Amino acid sequence: MIKPKILVARAVFPQTLERLSQHFDVESNQADETWSKAELARRLADKVGAFTTGSDRIDAEVLAGAPHLKICANMAVGYNNFDIPAMTARGVMATNTPDVLTETTADFGFALVMATARRIAESEHYLRAGHWTKWSYDMFAGSDIHGATLGILGMGRIGQGIAKRGAHGFGMNVIYHNRSRLSAELETDCKARYVSKEELLKTADHLVLVLPYSAASHHAIGAAELAQMKPTATLVNIARGGIVDDAALAVALKNKQIAAAGLDVFEGEPSVHPDLLTVPNVVLTPHIASSSVPTRLAMANLAADNLISYLTQNKALTPLNADGLAA
Ligand code: GLV
Repeated sequence: MIKPKILVARAVFPQTLERLSQHFDVESNQADETWSKAELARRLADKVGAFTTGSDRIDAEVLAGAPHLKICANMAVGYNNFDIPAMTARGVMATNTPDVLTETTADFGFALVMATARRIAESEHYLRAGHWTKWSYDMFAGSDIHGATLGILGMGRIGQGIAKRGAHGFGMNVIYHNRSRLSAELETDCKARYVSKEELLKTADHLVLVLPYSAASHHAIGAAELAQMKPTATLVNIARGGIVDDAALAVALKNKQIAAAGLDVFEGEPSVHPDLLTVPNVVLTPHIASSSVPTRLAMANLAADNLISYLTQNKALTPLNADGLAA
């Protein structure tokens, strides 16, 4: 029997490829080469399915070269690399990997809050550089986590996970702002209080960004917002590059307008704004918030299962544009 052809655009777990190969004729990229858009389109020309990651842009230009494509399964919960209207217009199903990464990503968000507030990376660099010669009373004195006010911008599943860790684990006072307010039940679960964005910026001791990227959230945190934060506050971005104006943040960190930041995502990543690389009061990680072995495996499996289920039974497990395609 001739198997349908799919493309796995990036390197993945060998067992994921093996599973896909039971159903499909798979073209893979285990060398993890970086393909141009033209190269991606060329490789999709004869494919019905694609396994993508957040780094692979699927838009009208790519779709124009992929006339047989029926589904793109993203191995990420975020999907701003997909032009959903363009995919819907061409009848291409889009899927992502929600839920399976929520707790792991919330763990990491909280880890970045702690590393940032307690100056863990900065002090480690100091020690490794051989600068530690004696104890001193204010050495790398940071700010407390327990009892502090944790602000969350974007209160989806991951935001709620971070809120629960802060409120229940560390006795934090949790405030949040979101496009829509949570139900009273969820607010009680998270011990979180809804506030305006302005109050969030002004009152949070530690502000965590967990909102999806869109034109509306572009530079949601820029110079004006940073100016409203406390000089002792910390900022953590585990959402998407572009939500923070990285150039403005570098200036704010340099001028100690805020105390410190922890960033897992960057505008134009994997490039990082050069000024962020030179300021000491920022923890920088390479977009790894969901990266525990079990969770990355679960994400890969869910993306693979979306391809298998949609291409063999016409049923996507975690569809993003099912309504548009049905219309
Ligand atoms: C990672 O950033 C994701 O969206 O899953």
